[in-house]
Amino acid sequence: MTTPSVRPARRPDAAATPTAPASVATGRATGKAILIGEHAVVYGRPAIALPLAALAVQATATRTEGPSRIRSALFSGRLDAVPARLLPTAKAITATLDALGHPHLGVDLQIQSEIPAERGVGSSAAVAAAVVRAVAALVGATLSGDEEHALIQQAERVAHTAPSGLDSHAVRARGPLWFGNGVVEPVAVGRPLSLIVADTGVAGRTREAVAGVAERRRTDPAVVDAAIDRLGALTDDARTLLAAGDLDGLGAVMTRAHELLGGLGVGDPALDRLVAAATRAGALGAKLTGGGRGGCALILVRDLDHAADVAGSLRAAGAAATWTTTVEATP
Ligand code: MEV
Repeated sequence: MTTPSVRPARRPDAAATPTAPASVATGRATGKAILIGEHAVVYGRPAIALPLAALAVQATATRTEGPSRIRSALFSGRLDAVPARLLPTAKAITATLDALGHPHLGVDLQIQSEIPAERGVGSSAAVAAAVVRAVAALVGATLSGDEEHALIQQAERVAHTAPSGLDSHAVRARGPLWFGNGVVEPVAVGRPLSLIVADTGVAGRTREAVAGVAERRRTDPAVVDAAIDRLGALTDDARTLLAAGDLDGLGAVMTRAHELLGGLGVGDPALDRLVAAATRAGALGAKLTGGGRGGCALILVRDLDHAADVAGSLRAAGAAATWTTTVEATP
């Protein structure tokens, strides 16, 4: 696996800038959608992701004399008793406190999230990012982007073993992000994009989806490597089409990527239903986004009026929820 990086991460405790410690502090991050390149990115191919401003998470950290606690919709209780699903969040807290030299500080951490969990839209990385930011602010430290990334990745490794790092960047990004070939950088957008994220309502676990692709690659390396190469080439094409403002071309590339991801075993009948419904409703392109095996579809439409029509068709086809998001053209 190749992990592109902005530059080598410094030790988190080496460069955090001190500010005033607080008794209460907050941290925020957003969900993300992968425009193209998921799974192939785990094997060193590039990917393009975008932040989803409509799906936000806020963590509020409060100093406490007692043992550290988490309060969230999934669980409320002591940090040392969290269920497996919250182990990444617990890791984000302890890793940040350790890195900043406060391993024994008691923290009461409240998490308020609009991001559906296990839907491929970055819930685990976004919660970790919000927590890292809140805890750092609580102890009066300002982390650099690299330092935040390194801490979020510690939590992400608990969530799904060998994360590429794409999600950790995307949940803190301001716009579409290229991740690959050793760089993480903004991508040029020639014309504004209107996109719909449609939730199948089916939980899709990234850890299992990534493990499934790895297993398939062990048994059928030629076929899987060819699909990964093709996805990498489509991501390069997508970057060019995005910059040129060729939305029809971009949509066609997205739909082709969906077919290839299905061939890797990370599709799902509910995702295929949403992609088919979007296509019937005139979408320019549609694909699964994130880990797959359930989760969400990402649909490119012509404009916001079109988005309203297509979202209606998606809900009629069984989408549990839809969110519309736009991406501005770059100057
Ligand atoms: C998950 O959002 C994206 C995957 O490519 C995994 C990763 O990049 O670590 C499936």
